[in-house]
Amino acid sequence: MQIIAIDGPVGAGKSTIAKLLAGRLGYAYIDTGAMYRAIGWKAYTTEAPISEGSLEKLCDSTRLDIELTDSQQRVIVDGKDITDEIRTPEISRMSSVVSAYASVRRYLVKLQRDTGISWAKRYGGVIAEGRDMGTVVFPDAAFKFYLDADIVERGKRRWKELQDKGMEAELSETVKGIEERDANDKGREIDPLRKAEGAIIIDTTGLSVEEVVEEMLRKIKGKSFEN
Ligand code: DC
Repeated sequence: MQIIAIDGPVGAGKSTIAKLLAGRLGYAYIDTGAMYRAIGWKAYTTEAPISEGSLEKLCDSTRLDIELTDSQQRVIVDGKDITDEIRTPEISRMSSVVSAYASVRRYLVKLQRDTGISWAKRYGGVIAEGRDMGTVVFPDAAFKFYLDADIVERGKRRWKELQDKGMEAELSETVKGIEERDANDKGREIDPLRKAEGAIIIDTTGLSVEEVVEEMLRKIKGKSFEN
């Protein structure tokens, strides 16, 4: 069984690429950002105070399930499927806010490790995508990738995603939201986004998702061949 970690900032193309790569290798795919979004969603909808103690209680009293249906990850909180509801700009912001709290990270890191290992056994491998996959959750991953792209391209990609879902958004606002989340995700004290030791860095600016996937497959196959 093989674990492949993919980290990087918002809009670097991680989710699309991780899904395609999982399809090519026949592995399962875990979108760990969706789990932070689930906790952000619960805090937002229940108007929970944003503090360490309150978020710890919230996590303790939450049942978070992730399921794979036709290679599509569904997120279920306390029995309710919230997969589509967690993709709004408000929940993007909230997920980044709650992700800075130790109690939330403790709860989710454990769930991510348990799910990752169990799915890797079941499917032969898993592609885990997030911000701290190579640094914290799976430091022994067989491959660690760090995807990046320039801010304007990341802004355009995220803006287009929102447009495609029929959500109104200004490009400048989308870029501003990304810059804020970058600052939060890279600047937080606990497990900030950074390049893992030994990570393969790919700048996806100007590359198609297929080109990035091919490049990753070359690295994976090349290394597996060496061993
Ligand atoms: O990948 P995403 O945009 O869906 O992630 C939402 C937020 O969750 C992101 O701003 C930071 C946080 N996150 C994290 O802290 N650690 C992860 N492994 C994944 C996401």
